[in-house]
Amino acid sequence: MKMRYIGTTDIEASVVSLGAWAIGGGPWWGASDTAESIGAIHAALDAGINMIDTAPAYGLGRSEEVIAKALAGRRDKVIIATKCGIWWQDKRDVIAFEVEGETAYKSLSPETIRQEIEMSLRRLNTDYIDLYQTHWPVTKEGSYLIEDTMACLLELKSQGKIRAIGASNVSIAEIEAYQAVGVLDTLQPRYSMLDRSIEQELLPFCIKNTISTLAYSPLEQGLLTGKFGMDYSLDKDNTRNGRPWFRPENRHKVLQMLSQWQDLTQQYHCTLSQLVIAWTIAQEGVTFVLCGARRAEHAIANAKAGDLTLSEEDMQRMRTDVLLLGEPV
Ligand SMILES: NC(=O)c1ccc[n+]([C@@H]2O[C@H](COP(=O)([O-])OP(=O)(O)OC[C@H]3O[C@@H](n4cnc5c(N)ncnc54)[C@H](OP(=O)(O)O)[C@@H]3O)[C@@H](O)[C@H]2O)c1
Repeated sequence: MKMRYIGTTDIEASVVSLGAWAIGGGPWWGASDTAESIGAIHAALDAGINMIDTAPAYGLGRSEEVIAKALAGRRDKVIIATKCGIWWQDKRDVIAFEVEGETAYKSLSPETIRQEIEMSLRRLNTDYIDLYQTHWPVTKEGSYLIEDTMACLLELKSQGKIRAIGASNVSIAEIEAYQAVGVLDTLQPRYSMLDRSIEQELLPFCIKNTISTLAYSPLEQGLLTGKFGMDYSLDKDNTRNGRPWFRPENRHKVLQMLSQWQDLTQQYHCTLSQLVIAWTIAQEGVTFVLCGARRAEHAIANAKAGDLTLSEEDMQRMRTDVLLLGEPV
C-alpha cells in the first residue's frame, strides 16, 4: 500500500482509505449490518488501509459508533477522519436535509463545533481525532465567519483533541479564508473520473499550497465497479438517485465504456474497480482516495488498488474514453 503524508503534518495515511458513509446505513444506502461493517473495517486494516473517513451525519451517529466497536484495541494504528457542521439535536443556522424523521442543520459556529467534538469523541470512544474536517460550508450571512470556525478548530488542536484540520466541499475563496487564520491540511472534494470539475482550479491550488486532497465517491457510488446493470432500479430515497450518471440513458454509456476496458483488466490482472481506483490515485493533486465499503471483500479488493500502477499510455486512453462520454444528460 502506498502511503502519503497529510498536508505538512507527520501523519502518514494510505492512498486508498476507507469511506464509512454507507456503514451508517439508513435510507440513503439501505440497511447496513453492524457485524458485516466491522468485518469490512477489520479487513481494510489488515489489507494495509490505515485511514477511515466518517462523519456524525452518516447514519446520525451510527457510522462513528460502529467504527469505535471495530477499533477496540487498535485505535493507535488508525487515522480517524471525521467531520463537524451537520447538527440535528436542535434548530441551528441553515437547514441541510431531512432524514429518518430528523431535520439536520448546517452550522459551523464555534459553539456548535465545541459541542459536536465532544459527541464525536464519545461515539468514537477516543480522546483525539486525527483529522477533523468541516463537512459543508454554511452560506448564511450570519453571526460568525469562517475565521471564527478556523479559530475554534485551532483551539481544539492546541488542546490536543484534533491533530489536523480539513474542509470539505469548499471553494478556493473559502479555503483562503481558512488559511488567513491557520494551516488547512486537507480538502475533501467530490472527484471521480466521471466528475473532474476540480481539475481546473481546485487541484492546482491544493498542489501549490501543500493541501492534501481526499477524493470522495471515486467509484461514483458503485457505478464504476460495473455491477449496476441496466436492469438495476433504485429505491426512492437511495442516494444514487441524485447522481446523474445513474440515469438509464447515461448509465448505458458508462457500462459500454467499462466493457471496452476488458483488455486492461486482463493486462493488469485486476478488476474494473481496481483499475478505476488506480487511475484516480494517479491523477495530479489527488492525495488519497476514499473508497466506500461495508463488505470485507470490497475493502480487500479496493486496498489492492493501492499497489497498482498503470502506464501513462493506458491512463491517457482511459481519460480519452471518459471524455468521449461527454456530459451526462
Ligand atoms: N464530504 C462529503 O460531503 C462526502 C460525500 C460523499 C462521500 N464522502 C466520503 O467518501 C466515501 C466514499 O464515497 P461513497 O461511499 O459516496 O462512494 P464510492 O466510494 O464511490 O462507492 C461506494 C460504494 O460502492 C460499492 N463498492 C465499493 N467497492 C466495491 C467493490 N470493490 N466492488 C463492488 N462494489 C463496491 C459499495 O456499494 P454497496 O455497499 O451498496 O455494495 C460501496 O458502498 C464515503 O464513504 C464518505 O466517507 C464524503
